[in-house]
Amino acid sequence: MKIYINGKLVEKQDAKISVFDHGLLYGDGVFEGIRAYNKLVFKLKEHIDRLYESAHTIMLDIPMTKSQMIKSVIDTIRANKLEDAYIRLIITRGEGDLGLDPRKCKGNATVIIIVDKIALYPDSLYKRGLEIVTVPTFRNLPEALNPQLKTLNYLNNILAKIEAINAGAEEAIMLDHLGYVAECTGDNIFIVRKNHIYTPPQCMGTLRGITRDTVLDIASKMKIAVHEHVLTRHEVYISDECFLTGTAAEIIPVVKVDGRRIGDGKPGEITKKLTDQFKKLTKTEGVKYAL
Ligand SMILES: Cc1ncc(COP(=O)(O)O)c(C=O)c1O
Repeated sequence: MKIYINGKLVEKQDAKISVFDHGLLYGDGVFEGIRAYNKLVFKLKEHIDRLYESAHTIMLDIPMTKSQMIKSVIDTIRANKLEDAYIRLIITRGEGDLGLDPRKCKGNATVIIIVDKIALYPDSLYKRGLEIVTVPTFRNLPEALNPQLKTLNYLNNILAKIEAINAGAEEAIMLDHLGYVAECTGDNIFIVRKNHIYTPPQCMGTLRGITRDTVLDIASKMKIAVHEHVLTRHEVYISDECFLTGTAAEIIPVVKVDGRRIGDGKPGEITKKLTDQFKKLTKTEGVKYAL
């Protein structure tokens, strides 16, 4: 496996960064998870744009242009000779001292690109559907650490994930501080009711998921009504269908929430149709590369 670190492709065992890197010491950095299917990098521009937007807000200078970043991503995929891949882009504040002052990180930001495979869940769970729970840990307040920033600071999500695991579930619904549904630990959430699709708006404290946007697009093209709407747990419990979206998980049906069966307890028809269209899109759309 070849890993890109600061302009060089190195073997996995040589892919090392300083223990003084503020990405490690403080989670001071940003990241993206991207997928390539069939030698096409899906929504690459959208992921790169979101990466630079997160970096802009945390005032982290990425020491290369977007087109240089895109080229480096493609070069790293090609070096790993993968037709289908999961790409992790990580930019940290770089090496500083033990204080948290970012001005002490004098060199450039650290740029890392890892190209690997990922399967969050076994195939059987995509067929059967997930059973998830609501957890006590609220999603971060947008006014404190805005969930729209995809930063290396994921402890809010990890705490919720631990609560889900402790409850015997694979995923957690995270609520905002008012008790409305925000998102899951690494996915956006959707429900279907009476053939309409609903997902919480960004202002509820969610990441603007690229898979979420893709699903909203697909649904509109299929002439299914979509609403970005505040959701309560009750609305999730009485939905006909529920599913989660994310680059790593793709589209995964949910069949039980907090012990309540969703619809007839099986993955729903609209979820299946959206998944079929999503799969078609990922096979044909994206930034092409040759191996
Ligand atoms: C907290 C959170 N919400 C939602 C998502 C889904 O976003 P995307 O579809 O862009 O991968 C992710 C994954 O990136 C995430 O970490």
